Amino acid sequence: MKGNAPARPSGRHFLQIPGPTNVPDRILRAIAAPVIDHRGPEFAELAKEVIAGMKRVFQTGETVFIYPSSGTGAWEAALSNTLSPGDAVLMFETGQFATLWQAMAGRLGLEVGLVPGDWRHGVDPAVVEERLAADRAHRIKAVCIVHNETSTGVTSRVGEIRAAIDQARHPALLMVDTVSSLASIDYRHDEWKVDVTVCGSQKGLMLPPGLGFNAVSKKALAAAGAAKLARSYWDWQAMRETEHTGFFPYTPGTSLLFGLREALQMLLDEEGLPAVFARHARHAEATRRAVAGWGLEVLCADPREYSNSLTAVLVPEGYDADRLREIILDSFDMSLGTGLGRVKGKVFRIGHLGWFNDLMLCGTLGGVEMGLHRAGVPHRAGGISAALEYLAAA
Ligand SMILES: Cc1ncc(COP(=O)(O)O)c(C=O)c1O
Repeated sequence: MKGNAPARPSGRHFLQIPGPTNVPDRILRAIAAPVIDHRGPEFAELAKEVIAGMKRVFQTGETVFIYPSSGTGAWEAALSNTLSPGDAVLMFETGQFATLWQAMAGRLGLEVGLVPGDWRHGVDPAVVEERLAADRAHRIKAVCIVHNETSTGVTSRVGEIRAAIDQARHPALLMVDTVSSLASIDYRHDEWKVDVTVCGSQKGLMLPPGLGFNAVSKKALAAAGAAKLARSYWDWQAMRETEHTGFFPYTPGTSLLFGLREALQMLLDEEGLPAVFARHARHAEATRRAVAGWGLEVLCADPREYSNSLTAVLVPEGYDADRLREIILDSFDMSLGTGLGRVKGKVFRIGHLGWFNDLMLCGTLGGVEMGLHRAGVPHRAGGISAALEYLAAA
């Protein structure tokens, strides 16, 4: 041990970034179990159980693949399994993650039609319909959207986007990134006829980073048969048997899957998904009331698109959101999300997703309010009271 290492402050760190999120102690204990043989019967049962559980979380009866990867790997799996070099894909610049996904699509050799955005709105279903209706030759093979933009705290209305695609009578696949919405915000893979849903383990699922997910429709599996993009590690074909046999084509993330089993028990069997969604909605509303009480503005410009998993807060012109975050970290041992890309320095992000409760939110908002005061950011005092009042009454 280094003698001059800085001492950790006393008490628990507040990890209020919008993921990775706080991992419950019981999940950490589950992950700490001895590693087992991933070709043995105990593992096969575990794999089948977690795949079945993840189907319930995605609200799907279709196929679910689990990778030892981050969310970025699951993005690549979605594109590389279904598309061919030169295929046109329609994407929307809703924020940093949509921007990164479209950059990946370009690197993979796809032709990206990018609809520009202001980072304060989600995908406009009317624009989806218009773009697809204009594509009479059906050159567009996929529409890719980010359900919850983690960089902005703005959601896109997937059900309405599905309806827009149907209205245009267009056969494009619909791919949706749910990295920061799954198991926090209601999401319906089957009902919304999504072809590939992408997710990662480190947010609503309350796990450390390290698992990537694809939920895949029959239409997407059929597309995979003809898709020509090069793929190997991500190839769905090699994983098709896993849900029946419980065996993966390569070494799976055994310990994280122990954690996933525990998380699924908490989400599905104990709290229940409707209660999980309601809890996130309530904490998001309380947070927005605090922001309004401080006299500050949330980045999301359309109340229909408010995120229930995080809130991005604009700091007044001339103030640096990262300096505020630094002061809050130094003073109160709380990590808040930094502004990414275009909104760097302009916003800070409060994560209120995953394993979270009323008093954790009170501590979080208390830290923000004290930080605003200490950093000299102009605001009205007492925003937290508005949140407390709401939480106490609701
Ligand atoms: C919405 C969204 N998509 C994709 C990603 C990329 O996932 P990862 O960083 O796990 O590769 C993230 C990461 O935060 C995200 O928030």
